[in-house]
Amino acid sequence: MSDQQPLPPTPAPALDLKNIQGDILSGLPKKTETFYFFEITDVTGFRTNLRDFVPVIKTVAQTLKDREAIDKHKKESGHGGHKPPTIPLVGVNIAFSHLGFAKLGIDDTKLVDTAFLSGQRQDAQTLGDKGTLDGDKFVPDWDAPFKQDIHGVFVVAGDSHVTVDRKVQLIEQRFKVGTPTASISKIVSIVGDVRPGDQDGHEHFGYLDGVSNPAIIGFDKNPPPGPAPVRPGVLLLGQDGDEDKDGRDPWMADGSFLVFRQLFQNVPEFDEFVNTNRLQLPGLSAKEGADLFGARLVGRWKSGAPIDLTPFFDDPELADDPLRNNNFHFTAERDFQKLCPFAAHIRKTLPRADLEDLGFSIENRRIARRGIQFGPELTRAEKQQKKTLLGRGLLFVSYQSSIVNGFQFIQQSWANNANFPFGEQTPETPGLDPIIGQSGDAPRGLMSGVNPNTPATTVDLKDVWVIPRGGEYFFSPSIKALRET
Ligand code: HEM
Repeated sequence: MSDQQPLPPTPAPALDLKNIQGDILSGLPKKTETFYFFEITDVTGFRTNLRDFVPVIKTVAQTLKDREAIDKHKKESGHGGHKPPTIPLVGVNIAFSHLGFAKLGIDDTKLVDTAFLSGQRQDAQTLGDKGTLDGDKFVPDWDAPFKQDIHGVFVVAGDSHVTVDRKVQLIEQRFKVGTPTASISKIVSIVGDVRPGDQDGHEHFGYLDGVSNPAIIGFDKNPPPGPAPVRPGVLLLGQDGDEDKDGRDPWMADGSFLVFRQLFQNVPEFDEFVNTNRLQLPGLSAKEGADLFGARLVGRWKSGAPIDLTPFFDDPELADDPLRNNNFHFTAERDFQKLCPFAAHIRKTLPRADLEDLGFSIENRRIARRGIQFGPELTRAEKQQKKTLLGRGLLFVSYQSSIVNGFQFIQQSWANNANFPFGEQTPETPGLDPIIGQSGDAPRGLMSGVNPNTPATTVDLKDVWVIPRGGEYFFSPSIKALRET
């Protein structure tokens, strides 16, 4: 179970990297990213415009080259050169909702996924979002653009607003937006930015994000020790590991479902909660006690170091070491929550040995996360008033070959389920995921395991600090499929 050594290299890729959109397997490199949500207004015009646009779409093969160029540039600028901090690289991907396929007259029923086919607005109650009933219809408390019918999204990621904005302009020209022959109209565009300075890579609560993503057999050549690499079909339709592989239409192969969620984060209120509940343990300063309490909510310290491996003090060196920072399995503590609470965000969303030791596979629950932050840094007024005055949070993006098995399952059956991980291993109810667990209008209840010395101690998660205010389910097709649309 515990693999201390790096795994042997996996076989050469059998994947057609020129046929897969870049964000899925390698993530489009980004300092900033625009999500351009659109409605198709002229089907014939759209098909023509899209066929002409396909060469602009960045594939995995091209994304890997971009990443090499960025690495090379970083090395060269690190040697005292006078180079600008980034190189002007940008990538565009495209994905469609079920309503988009319906508008285009494309039969997508063999995508099978019930969440995708119903759309995220219809799924919001299942996800635990707050909302109201209009007759027997649930209307989530979402922002206006996401209450409209969205047909598709362009994902435009790059090194700067200048390069990304230029690409967005190109999209608008090619699809003739705002002219009498327009084939799409813009619903909304949302801009995300990685955070500045030493917060680069950290989400708005301050924790390093993007540490643990599934390694893919045949694609990631030297997977670091940690959770087992997954078959490509966990992310890509039609590949080995896709549970519905045999029932697909050929055009669905090499595509992936893209989940988008706009999640607002109430940072001053979260900080206040962490500070109020800071752990008062011998030898810990007030700040260390607060840091420890926060780390127990997430399962990692702000540096990214996992508390399963360093339970009392942060260890930035461990955080920086890819051979160690994901190599833990929650195994040593099946009966307690001494190292990591069962409800901690990373344990809820990837329970590792909690399930594997009971004979369950976690492979088909893995998702590739590609989100980015949005909104400004905390202002002085917000810090003083301990109150959110400006909107900020995470533009959550995940890829998977099944939304039902992946994102939806993690959110509904794990994060929102106070009894998960289930079984005899804990006398205390774990509680909701304190970061993302949603309970609609009901109270979020108690979380146990907050104090490593007395794991039965609970805390009342009475507030919610991550608030979903919109989203949609999309399908990101292969390049061949886009050419044939
Ligand atoms: C990991 C924060 C939303 C699923 C993490 C990590 C952080 C984090 C700090 C640890 C770093 C890492 O392992 O990459 C947040 C915040 C969110 C959010 C602040 C909302 C604003 C979500 C959502 C899901 C999710 C909505 C899925 C339903 C995961 C998964 C991991 C993770 C699967 C990796 C677990 C592992 O492999 O160990 N998140 N997250 N997160 N998160 Fe989230």
